[in-house]
This record gives sequence, structure tokens and C-alpha cells, in this order.
Amino acid sequence: MKRTIHDFRVYQNDHLSNDYFVLYLDCPEKMPEILPGQFVQALVEHSPATYLRRPFSVYHVDEQLNRMALMIKVAGIGTAALMKLSAGDTLNLIYPLGNSFEMPEGDHALLIGGGVGIAPMYMLAKRLHDLGKKVDVLIGGRTSKDIIEPNLYREFGNVHITTDDGSLGEKGMVTQHSLFSGENLPFSKIYACGPDPMMRAVSNLAKSKGIDCEVSLENLMACGIGACLCCIVETNEGNKTSCVEGPVFNTRDLKAWQ
Ligand SMILES: Cc1cc2nc3c(=O)[nH]c(=O)nc-3n(C[C@H](O)[C@H](O)[C@H](O)COP(=O)(O)OP(=O)(O)OC[C@H]3O[C@@H](n4cnc5c(N)ncnc54)[C@H](O)[C@@H]3O)c2cc1C
Ligand code: FES
Repeated sequence: MKRTIHDFRVYQNDHLSNDYFVLYLDCPEKMPEILPGQFVQALVEHSPATYLRRPFSVYHVDEQLNRMALMIKVAGIGTAALMKLSAGDTLNLIYPLGNSFEMPEGDHALLIGGGVGIAPMYMLAKRLHDLGKKVDVLIGGRTSKDIIEPNLYREFGNVHITTDDGSLGEKGMVTQHSLFSGENLPFSKIYACGPDPMMRAVSNLAKSKGIDCEVSLENLMACGIGACLCCIVETNEGNKTSCVEGPVFNTRDLKAWQ
């Protein structure tokens, strides 16, 4: 898929809390097709410390209005700078990058997002829903403040929530949710994105139940286009770049996850 570079215009920056915000962006030209799971490399301007672009999953795409949105959690200097963007500002993006989630063979999928790992799940839930698949979404966070925009996902299926402290939904980690209490789970595929330990726990659970599982890795990236090799992932077919051959991998292919 052809990579493009565009100066997007910020038309809204929704501050959801002190940590989370959603940037709504207008594209000056027709955007290429963007698939669920793909990401952008954003240029954070006016700072030598943010010379390297920062990767973010594409959260929403509105093809008719030629707009996209990014859901971002402040993690350091670059994301803190992006939080200060306001309507009329410009954000330069290289996109669409990486591969995408594969559609399941069966008809019932479970999408799991930990914290801001829920970002790529919106487009995926929409795509699965449009294909007539049954969708369940499980969102996990440390506290209720880490459960971002859960109601948006209700359009596509049931939404379940866990928090570590029990401040919203069931108390505990996503893998402890009562959805998993039965012997035979109804899901033909599980998709997950979030902190590495969460995705490994989901992968182990899926494996123990014999369910196919894909994860979107958030490995550190620099170039984002397969040139620097800093995002290498060991797979059963040899080393792969997370930025070009990922970030989505089937967990049965991830060597260190078996
Ligand atoms: C494919 C992909 C999709 C992502 N999607 C999202 C998303 O939708 N929303 C979101 O909030 N975050 C997302 N991230 C993580 C996001 O890229 C980092 O939080 C961001 O780059 C941090 O930049 P910073 O300048 O604020 O932090 P820094 O001050 O540079 O560092 C703070 C911490 O952020 C992490 N980090 C720094 N640079 C990177 C990098 N290039 N790649 C990954 N982690 C990094 C490190 O753990 C570091 O300790 C994604 C990462 C990847 C690889
Ligand atoms: S980030 Fe440079 S090869 Fe992946």
C-alpha cells in the first residue's frame, strides 16, 4: 500500500482527561484507504528532543469527510506537545503504515484493548460489524480514568469493562473477566492491543482455549518504514520488522510468546 505524507489540519482536540486526548484531523487531499490496525508516524515540531516521529494507531477514519482521528495518551515529551495542539494547527503525518488485522473465519470476535490500546479497535469493530460478524469488546484499565470512550463501541456489540481497582466494571485484569469463566468460549478469534504483559496473558488464554489470536505490538520505533531495523520481532519465519510486517502479528507466529 502506498505511503503518503500530508499536513493535516487539526479541527478539534478533545481533552478527555489530564492524560488522554483525541485529535480530529482534516486532510487537505483525498486520503488513501486506511485499514484497521494501520498507524501513522506523526512529526512533533519545534523540539530537537522529538526529532524522531511518534507512531500512533489510526483511531477513526471518515472517508466521506476526508478526516481521521488519533487517540493519544501522554507518555512523554512528544505526546505532551501534541496535547497542546488546537484547532487550526498543522500535524504532519506519514501514513498508512504497517499491516492490518486479518478478518476472522468464524463469525464471533472478541476485541480487547488495554488503556490506550483500545485505539485501533474502533476501526476493527466497525469493519467486523459491517461484515456481519458478532462483536464483543473488552476494555481494561488501571482505574475508571483509563477506560476511554467505551460507549462508542456499543454501536458494534457488547462492551465489557475491567479495572484493576474495581472503580468501573469487574475488578481485576482483562483475562480475569467473567467472559472467560466457561469451558467453551463462543469466540472464533481474539484481537488484543495494550501493554505487553496484558497481550501475553491474552495470548496464553486464547491458546489454552484453542482460539486464534492476533495482537498489535507497540514496539519502540524510529523510522517506521523498515529502514533502521530497531523494531525487529522474532517470528517462526525469522526476524520481521514491526513497522512494515507488523504491528499486527498472529501470536502463534511470535517465537518468544510460545
Ligand atoms: C504501532 C504503534 C501504535 C501506537 N499507537 C498509539 C496510540 O494509538 N495512542 C497512543 O497514545 N500511543 C500509541 N503508541 C505509543 C506511542 O507511540 C508512544 O507513547 C509515543 O511515541 C511516546 O512519545 P513521547 O515523546 O511522548 O514519549 P518519550 O518521552 O519519547 O518516551 C516516553 C515513553 O514512551 C514510549 N515510547 C517512546 N517513543 C516510542 C516509540 N517511538 N514507539 C513506542 N513507544 C515509544 C517509551 O516506553 C518511553 O519510555 C503506539 C506505538 C506503536 C509502536
Ligand atoms: S522502525 Fe525502523 S525498521 Fe521499524
